[in-house]
Amino acid sequence: QKLELALDSIEKGGYEHFMLKEIFEQPRSILDSMRGRLELRSGHLNMAGARAYEQKFINAHRIIIVACGTSWHAGLVAEYLLEDLARIPVEVEYASEFRYRNPVLTERDIVIAISQSGETADTLAAIELAKSKGATIFGICNVVGSSIARATDAGAYTHAGPEIGVASTKAFTAQVTVLTLLAMIVGSKRGTLTDTKLRELMVELDNIPAKVEKALQLDTEIKQISEIFKDASNFLYLGRGYNFPVALEGALKLKEISYIHAEGYPAAEMKHGPIALIDENMPVVVIATKDQSYEKVVSNIQEVKARKGRIIAVVTEGDEVIPKMAEFVIEVPATSDVLMPLVSVVPLQLLSYYIAVMRGCNVDQPRNLAKSVTVE
Ligand code: AGP
Repeated sequence: QKLELALDSIEKGGYEHFMLKEIFEQPRSILDSMRGRLELRSGHLNMAGARAYEQKFINAHRIIIVACGTSWHAGLVAEYLLEDLARIPVEVEYASEFRYRNPVLTERDIVIAISQSGETADTLAAIELAKSKGATIFGICNVVGSSIARATDAGAYTHAGPEIGVASTKAFTAQVTVLTLLAMIVGSKRGTLTDTKLRELMVELDNIPAKVEKALQLDTEIKQISEIFKDASNFLYLGRGYNFPVALEGALKLKEISYIHAEGYPAAEMKHGPIALIDENMPVVVIATKDQSYEKVVSNIQEVKARKGRIIAVVTEGDEVIPKMAEFVIEVPATSDVLMPLVSVVPLQLLSYYIAVMRGCNVDQPRNLAKSVTVE
């Protein structure tokens, strides 16, 4: 039995759970997902899987992203990225809904299917439907040789390495990294992204692993916050712009592994309903980094505060405004708006992890959930 315990600990790299190991692997896995693709010195971006389809991307009328769960959240980040950088209209669809609709698709449309496992039944069915309508399918998968990887016309692997924890962490950041690179490549080929902006983003992307490393140092601080909120029955997560999908992802992580009911919302939608839930017992996690929507998010924080909600704010290092308003502040390194999800998601992963551990939950294998959902 001692040997079994020792083996288990080796597999987890000395961490208590796979999920924690995978969260801490992110500086490395993000780097792996960029390896050979981001070449700062020569100023080149490469994505072998996309090369043959470059012209298709350049001429695409529309990109439709199909995915489930966390991969769907990565798809939402990609919607902002592809619209901002490549100026292509994007729709993000739940694969489970898309597969039973009668979608209008043409040969000028590209469908991007995102899946960690590459085995998700709904995503696979959505691909088959899109294929039958003549669309080009580009896959973004983590598992090499998986069914989805084989069913697509072209694609790019995320190279995050095996993800064992049911709650996806490093696969998400790897997906977002690959989608960022793709949006940069397509944007530069289409001429919608200037060389100067492209260069700036390349430099900033190259810095992301170090910034994620820095965000991971928030570990002890987040453990303390988790202790305070571990018995909450509900959580609200708010974010705008690039941080809106991060709010959804933070809420999904918490509900999956701690079984606390959590909702993610675009911060401004709060006033259309969820604001009614806010009282002195409601923890509200606001991702409020310094970006285009910063001022607006500050007003949203004031609205929560006026109703006595307990604010945990994820802010950019050096922010002097929000610390005066929020009960807890988590500072992450500054980066471009476009790349912020890669950094701002990290404290939310840690928060869900510690809360779940403190509640005695089975973090790596939460009840009722499977790592890959191969049935409908
Ligand atoms: C993520 O934490 C979940 N376990 C789940 O939502 C997952 O992202 C979803 O089932 C999609 O899986 P896939 O990426 O393997 O297709």
